[in-house]
Amino acid sequence: MYHLSAKYYDYIYSFKDYEKESAILRGMIETYGRSDGNQLLDVACGTGKHIEYLREDFEVEGVDLEPEFLKIVQEKFPDLSFYLGDMRTFDLGREFDVVTCLFSAIGYMQTVEELNLAIANMARHLRSGGMLLVEPWISRDKWRDSSVHMLTVDEPELKIARVVTSSVEGRTAVMDMHHLIGTPEKTQHFVETHRMFMATKEELMDAVQSAGLKASWDEEGLNWRGMLIGVKE
Ligand SMILES: C[S@@+](CC[C@H](N)C(=O)[O-])C[C@H]1O[C@@H](n2cnc3c(N)ncnc32)[C@H](O)[C@@H]1O
Repeated sequence: MYHLSAKYYDYIYSFKDYEKESAILRGMIETYGRSDGNQLLDVACGTGKHIEYLREDFEVEGVDLEPEFLKIVQEKFPDLSFYLGDMRTFDLGREFDVVTCLFSAIGYMQTVEELNLAIANMARHLRSGGMLLVEPWISRDKWRDSSVHMLTVDEPELKIARVVTSSVEGRTAVMDMHHLIGTPEKTQHFVETHRMFMATKEELMDAVQSAGLKASWDEEGLNWRGMLIGVKE
């Protein structure tokens, strides 16, 4: 999915305030977490932008499905451990105090069944009193039937124009992301299509409860997307 764009990810998402988001996450962990330890697993960690800040307070490890991200994040943080894995099936054989799944990565689960599998698997990696924080994908009522957006990066030796045309297929938001990328060596174009399942708040809460966690919902979350919270009692 991110195979071609992975190395440009931090430029494309430079508008995101990961430091502020990490501070909000810390507050949520203080409010809801019940275990004494500080081991945190970031599932779908990408390039580790939250990890950059969370590592100040937590012993952090990460999981991601995309080998290109794994390479980048492992190079950024050689002293931390990262694992290649699918959120539905990875098995580290250990439990953590906090498991996070941020920036709507859960939307890559294409059905309610897949969503349930992923949440149950993340919950299995929590110790008693531990908490799960899942930032949901955008809900159907907030997603327009069709839209187009553009984002640009203008660095001295890197120019990016990313144009995204979005549509809806059933309960899935489909985003065709066209990347035009220029460097002093060459200019290239590629397309990545991202399909995000628009689960309802009820389906997300059910998934957490079925995984044996106490579910709650923070309406604001890190920004307007909200936050699904589960605590293993
Ligand atoms: C929008 S990025 C978020 C990355 C990072 N959490 C952040 O906040 O910048 C979505 C991430 O989900 C990962 N991903 C997608 N499907 C996955 C799966 N089935 N299991 C694990 N990671 C997955 C992608 O590789 C990508 O790193």
